[in-house]
Amino acid sequence: MSVVVIVGAQWGDEGKGKVVDYLTRRADVVARYQGGHNAGHTVVIKDEKFVLHLIPSGILHTNTLCIIGNGVVVEPSALIEEIRGLRKRGITVSDNLLISRNAHLIMPYHAALDRASEQAKGKKNIGTTGRGIGPTYVDKMGRSGIRVGDLLTPEAFLEKLKTNLVQANFLLKNLYKAPTFRAENVFKEYMRYAKVLARHIADTDIIVNDAIARKRNVLLEGAQGTLLDIDHGTYPFVTSSSAIAGGACTGLGIGPTKINRVLGIVKAYTTRVGSGPFPTELHDRTGEMMREKGGEFGATTGRARRCGWLDTVILKHSCRVNGLSGIVLTKLDILDGMDTIRICTSYTYRGKTLAEMPKELSVLEKCVPVYEDMKGWKESTLGIKNFSNLPKRAQAYLRRIESLIGVKAMIVSTGQKRDELILIEEPF
Ligand code: GDP
Ligand code: IMO
Ligand code: MG
Repeated sequence: MSVVVIVGAQWGDEGKGKVVDYLTRRADVVARYQGGHNAGHTVVIKDEKFVLHLIPSGILHTNTLCIIGNGVVVEPSALIEEIRGLRKRGITVSDNLLISRNAHLIMPYHAALDRASEQAKGKKNIGTTGRGIGPTYVDKMGRSGIRVGDLLTPEAFLEKLKTNLVQANFLLKNLYKAPTFRAENVFKEYMRYAKVLARHIADTDIIVNDAIARKRNVLLEGAQGTLLDIDHGTYPFVTSSSAIAGGACTGLGIGPTKINRVLGIVKAYTTRVGSGPFPTELHDRTGEMMREKGGEFGATTGRARRCGWLDTVILKHSCRVNGLSGIVLTKLDILDGMDTIRICTSYTYRGKTLAEMPKELSVLEKCVPVYEDMKGWKESTLGIKNFSNLPKRAQAYLRRIESLIGVKAMIVSTGQKRDELILIEEPF
């Protein structure tokens, strides 16, 4: 039995959904620990594509218990829509989806504040998904948030809502000149959601720890990526939660002693959605090729993702702050047919070589990547399932990454579909 954390090692969209779905074949429980419906996790089974936002990517396996942990922020209408969307496609969640009583609720004024504050920032905006993620975590940390469990006690819910609307409406009206909200309307709307969601609300900390005690395989699913982490990412161009592996402990109520392995998902190149520094970003035809061939358009907002070469400086940081036991290299097939593939091994800043990612944003923004060039392979790697069948140069690319970051690959993903991968070492 094992407890395995899946974490994005870059700026998100590394292919976490595909890996979580694949590993779920051996998992009894899959639990999300942070983020909200800003995430978009894609799973492709045969020719059917599923995009999961709040529901753990293990849901497509019928016998797996899926948990939305206390560290997640939940927009109930988005969750209900996701549940209904799955049901329409023959996937029921009635018995196998639980939501933590302690998860915080995204309220309509959170989304309004998110959008208004982005608009007010103008060119300096973060490029958020506009889903209300930041303002919801602000209320959580400010100790005024409304939690999923509050849906079950209408009077207490209404009281908190009224108190919170005093401030939210003040800001919306006076600072942002935006429409305000009426407590009665929001209350009625959320009580409707409560009816649908009540059966799923549970003490998930007890349930997850019980599964671990009973020696079950438990998969902990991160959303976003390490460089979007509130503490260890490229602040302030980050999301508002602990996306790194440590977030799995606080976001579910599991002690660090219970975690056996941490797997970092690494895309074979780099992408980023939204604003913020990205040293290896390409503004040329190679970047466009990555975007087109890799389908690099946001699974949540549809925005074009910024694309660039693999950056082992940020990956070394990722290995360190997550304590990675292994990596999963994804989208190797997207690099098929390239003449040269570049790997960033360090940066230069004002004539100095930097081996580590600088913490100051103003420095990182001006870093120039130093590249090591490798010869590309001309064959297709799409769908390859054995390491020895990979072109020698693709093998060399993987080996070089492993040696630069000091962590070995457990899986190499060679296509969108569930079974298009090379299993080098079983994480469970
Ligand atoms: P996530 O947010 O980390 O789950 O990643 P997304 O789902 O947002 O983006 C990853 C995209 O790449 C999705 O469209 C996946 O179907 C796709 N994908 C994942 N692994 C591979 C792979 O090895 N090869 C190819 N071609 N596509 C992949
Ligand atoms: P998955 O789980 C990529 C980015 C947004 C923005 C910043 C803050 O699919 O990898 P937020 O709405 O969270 O306040 O936005 O974080 N972002 C993501 N980028 N993948 C994601 O999720 C993301 N979730 C948030 O684009 O730059
Ligand atoms: Mg995504």
